[in-house]
Amino acid sequence: MKRIAINTAGGDAPGMNACLRAVVRSAIYYGLEVVGFEEGYWGLIKDKKRRMDLRSVSGIISWGGTVLKTKRCEQMKTKKGIQKAGEVLKRNRIDGLITIGGDGSFKGGMELYRASRIPIVGIPASIDNDIPGTEDTIGFDTAVNTALESIQKIRDTASSHDRIFIIEVMGRERGFIALAVGLASGAEIILVPEVRYNLSKISQELEQGRKTGKKSSIIVMAEGAGAAYAIAHQIRDVTGYEVRVSVVGYIQRGGSPTARSVNLANLFGHQAVKTLMRARSARMVGWEKGEVVVHPLDYVTRQKKEIDRNLYRLAHILAI
Ligand code: F6P
Repeated sequence: MKRIAINTAGGDAPGMNACLRAVVRSAIYYGLEVVGFEEGYWGLIKDKKRRMDLRSVSGIISWGGTVLKTKRCEQMKTKKGIQKAGEVLKRNRIDGLITIGGDGSFKGGMELYRASRIPIVGIPASIDNDIPGTEDTIGFDTAVNTALESIQKIRDTASSHDRIFIIEVMGRERGFIALAVGLASGAEIILVPEVRYNLSKISQELEQGRKTGKKSSIIVMAEGAGAAYAIAHQIRDVTGYEVRVSVVGYIQRGGSPTARSVNLANLFGHQAVKTLMRARSARMVGWEKGEVVVHPLDYVTRQKKEIDRNLYRLAHILAI
């Protein structure tokens, strides 16, 4: 193996830059050349690239976003797009590809491997932490801490006004952020797409809380768990309490990565290079039981990652 390529794909996540640095520096350390394709798989199909040398990744370890940029790429869901991406890799004499992204990017990467037989290693980076085969993803811890800071601020105003707040955090399909931040912020109620809820029961729980002296309450919900404003109206109608909604939104995708996100990026980046040099196939790196692991890349298509229901129950117990 002489020359490898790297891209960042899908939604950005804090720590992607640290991971780029880790991949580029590790690859050069082991004697490889590195080409960076810009704007995810879209840029790969368009052959938008730049040479990544040691100094091209200087100073970026603590930056949010990705200096290689990223884009959602519909073409990678088509045969034509995948074929084109394979041709570009071959034309550039690329011996292996490292892709930093989420499950959608890994599915595209898997198809690219099947069509081109160019080895590929996926590095899980997504604030949603919804990638099977890894307990943690680059950016998740940062997003949770960003949301936590917002919720702590909202708690101040909620308690001053004796209000109920519904705080919507990211997670279009999965509730990993909502669960982690709900538990960490002491939220009274957590709503995630994976668990069915009943609004009359929630209203009763809020009323019960008032009876036992709670003056304000926080409901943390994943964006995919329902319509925050409609839920607020219903709770207000049933309980008569003042209910406000606050959407944390895209600030969860930005900012400097936490130490946890950077160190995951460092470990994943280095392991991805070593794996690519050895394995002539499609792999992903992950984090399980306190160490870096390597799985087949099609793991993401065969498994579904579930939230930890014990944490969900614990949050409920601690919020009575
Ligand atoms: O990065 C994951 C995620 O933040 C989801 O939780 C969210 O719904 C989605 O990306 C939105 O991203 P975009 O607007 O870039 O498609």
